[in-house]
Amino acid sequence: MTKVAIIGAGPCGLSALRSFELAEKKGEKIPEIVCFEKQEDWGGLWNYSWRTGSDQYGDPIPNSMYRYLWSNGPKECLEFADYSFDEHFGKPIPSFPPREVLYDYIIGRVSKGNLKDKIKFNTRVINTVFKDNKFEVSYQDKVNNKVLTENFDFMIVSSGHFSVPFIPEYPGMKSFPGRIMHSHDFRDAEEFRNKDVIVLGSSYSAEDVALQCNKYGAKSVTIGYRHNPMGFKWPKGMKEVYYLDRLEGKKAIFKDGTEQTADVIILCTGYLHHFPFINESLKLKTHNRLYPPKLYKGVVWQDNHKLFYLGMQDQFHTFNMFDCQAWYARDIIMGKIKMPGDKEISEDINKWVAMEEKLENPDQMIDFQTEYTKELHEMSDYPKIDFELIRKHFKEWEHHKVEDILTYRNKSFSSPVTGSVAPIHHTPWDKAMDDSMKTFLDQPTK
Ligand SMILES: Cc1cc2nc3c(=O)[nH]c(=O)nc-3n(C[C@H](O)[C@H](O)[C@H](O)COP(=O)(O)OP(=O)(O)OC[C@H]3O[C@@H](n4cnc5c(N)ncnc54)[C@H](O)[C@@H]3O)c2cc1C
Ligand SMILES: NC(=O)c1ccc[n+]([C@@H]2O[C@H](COP(=O)([O-])OP(=O)(O)OC[C@H]3O[C@@H](n4cnc5c(N)ncnc54)[C@H](OP(=O)(O)O)[C@@H]3O)[C@@H](O)[C@H]2O)c1
Repeated sequence: MTKVAIIGAGPCGLSALRSFELAEKKGEKIPEIVCFEKQEDWGGLWNYSWRTGSDQYGDPIPNSMYRYLWSNGPKECLEFADYSFDEHFGKPIPSFPPREVLYDYIIGRVSKGNLKDKIKFNTRVINTVFKDNKFEVSYQDKVNNKVLTENFDFMIVSSGHFSVPFIPEYPGMKSFPGRIMHSHDFRDAEEFRNKDVIVLGSSYSAEDVALQCNKYGAKSVTIGYRHNPMGFKWPKGMKEVYYLDRLEGKKAIFKDGTEQTADVIILCTGYLHHFPFINESLKLKTHNRLYPPKLYKGVVWQDNHKLFYLGMQDQFHTFNMFDCQAWYARDIIMGKIKMPGDKEISEDINKWVAMEEKLENPDQMIDFQTEYTKELHEMSDYPKIDFELIRKHFKEWEHHKVEDILTYRNKSFSSPVTGSVAPIHHTPWDKAMDDSMKTFLDQPTK
């Protein structure tokens, strides 16, 4: 029987499992599937961990999510086509839920059948080679500290790419008398109450970590960008300045001449695509971009069409794009979609990469990833979902952020699956201090 290995049971791995589950429900004969997950439960980054560094087995912690993390995009843009928010919660809920609510939604879709039986938890893939037309996967059972090897016909890599931090060094760090950390290890903004915080970076982590620190009582927050400022209208107590030059004792000195006393430096400097468990010839090598090269349709490894990578793009679209990718990979594995010849594959990859390299602003990037996702959507039986509405929502959301970075999460959007309109949440985001699901769902909505 054909065997498929799935590496990681985060949202992408769960999309893959779900795609096979639905094919089986339609009466199709599916391959044998083994999903390897190095953590003790599923959900990937959405499965919050208090731990940082390494776990009780000495394995690096993949989690980068923190307390008080609210969705940074409208939930409607990531809605599953086969499992709406209305179906899961039994009523429409506001558009920007906190982490626990989204975790509940992700897990709700996969909990009803027997998918958990297909996952080996606490099991870390440590090596993969391709020989004799099979993937030889070596993995460690972390609890019993045993290494085992198994052969597979196909392999789906869904191990995420926001887990291994990129950590640059600036002059003066060695003698800085405070804390220096990466956003990967950020867990609770309360820690920085009454502190002078420096945040380095100009993307989503920098924006959100800086706002969190301000919201939970930091004395000051100074964001140092390198290339382009985020340029939002920051609230009182926050500023954005040009590039850190050096630290002198407790003083942070920026290239625009700004000097700021600092208790803590939080590096929001992004992550590395890191696959220590894959042989060099099969390994995706890329930075965080919208179209990593060598992946046909953003999914199939150009040099070996039995190897698939899910979710390796920088992401506007998330869960439903992961689904479209998973459905597409499933159909290649099950022989329903045939791969074209090498020339066509190469031309298609080059076309998308060339288009990506010309993108200049967020609107164009949203268009690009929407076109990509729509194309994939049309290639499988992934259920109907209105990607044109999602495109519109993303652009509106970008606009709301520019208008007011503190209030964009109070807005309401309509579902691309059911059409229902989200209620406005009972508490504006900048006043909502409790991120529990109970508080989010229980209080009456206006
Ligand atoms: C701080 C932060 C906030 C985010 N917030 C949002 C948001 O609000 N909305 C949104 O849509 N997206 C958000 N994202 C994007 C996020 O990447 C996706 O939502 C999603 O988690 C990606 O799913 P994934 O399955 O690719 O990766 P992950 O969620 O990282 O899951 C990968 C899984 O693979 C496992 N794994 C890794 N290596 C191995 C191995 N060798 N062997 C076995 N298992 C392995 C890991 O343990 C993990 O469970 C956020 C990302 C970060 C870092
Ligand atoms: N739900 C939420 O609220 C939330 C919160 C946090 C993160 N996220 C998600 O997490 C993912 C990762 O976001 P991310 O911001 O961590 O990574 P990212 O988007 O890859 O951005 C990395 C940032 O690091 C900067 N950088 C890199 N090296 C630097 C250096 N030496 N000095 C200064 N800056 C440097 C880059 O700036 P340059 O432009 O100068 O290269 C860029 O701004 C995204 O998908 C995001 O949506 C979501």
